Amino acid sequence: MEKAHHNHDRKHDPVFYFIAVIAIIGVAASSYLAVARNDDKEKHLQDRNALLQQLNNTKSNLTVAEMNISELENELNDIKEELDDLADDYRDEKNRNEDFEDQIRSLSGTLGDLDKLSKIDKELLQKYSKVYFLNENYIPERLKQIDDKYILEGKNDQYFHANAINHLEDLLNAARRAGIDLKVVSAYRSFDEQVEVKGHHTQVYGEGANAFSADQGYSEHQLGTTVDLTVPAVGGTYESFAQTEAYEWLLDNAYKYGFILSYPEDNTFYIFEPWHWRFVGTDLARHLDRNNETFYTMEQRDIDEYLLELFD
Ligand code: DAL
Ligand code: ZN
Repeated sequence: MEKAHHNHDRKHDPVFYFIAVIAIIGVAASSYLAVARNDDKEKHLQDRNALLQQLNNTKSNLTVAEMNISELENELNDIKEELDDLADDYRDEKNRNEDFEDQIRSLSGTLGDLDKLSKIDKELLQKYSKVYFLNENYIPERLKQIDDKYILEGKNDQYFHANAINHLEDLLNAARRAGIDLKVVSAYRSFDEQVEVKGHHTQVYGEGANAFSADQGYSEHQLGTTVDLTVPAVGGTYESFAQTEAYEWLLDNAYKYGFILSYPEDNTFYIFEPWHWRFVGTDLARHLDRNNETFYTMEQRDIDEYLLELFD
């Protein structure tokens, strides 16, 4: 009974209550903590999931963006290729146009040349020495009187081809500047004048005249592009003209003005005529000078190549 009483007493012991209360609080706190921890964990998980979700979203956005970029890149490449194609087409078209322009230019150049050629008298580069005959009615298309200051005294009233007279004047002026007083003795001679000249020479020299005087129709003087030159000290008989400084100067310089020596030493047509100079154009004259060739030893078809530039 005492023991029970004793037990009953313990139930009412304040320490017991205290311990019980503490125990209850402990249990409650730990369960609260457990619940709270659980809550934390859950929240953490939720956060983590949200983050993962965000990450996934960002990843898929990135994938979309990447796809867009590669699509854009493809489109850009397509555009670039189209532009390249267009540039190629443009270049091709431009080349075609340029080729066409070249063709037109060369065609009009050829037509221009042909037109120019058709207006140049082909007789002016023909060989008129014994073999070739110039029609008795032939006269140069236009003659111009040579200024008296260039003519040997007593030989006035001389004419030269109008298209070449500036070359003759250039030659004579250049000689003057070099201290050479070159004068014209004879220039254009018509068919009839040549009849007279040859007749006179034949009267004086008989058959011998053939060595230095052309029959009518065979004289280069009928072309209007040939002159006989001298210096006053020698005069119109040309005696020893070959030994003059004037002749030396002509040999060195006449080609620059388009003049050549038709009958050099040992030619097969006439005697050596150092006074007789023919205009053949500066290109042909330069060609002959450079190659040490003579007009009459050149092939006619090679000479004719120079016809186009005759008066240039
Ligand atoms: N003295 C030259 C050959 C002529 O008469 O044309
Ligand atoms: Zn002559």
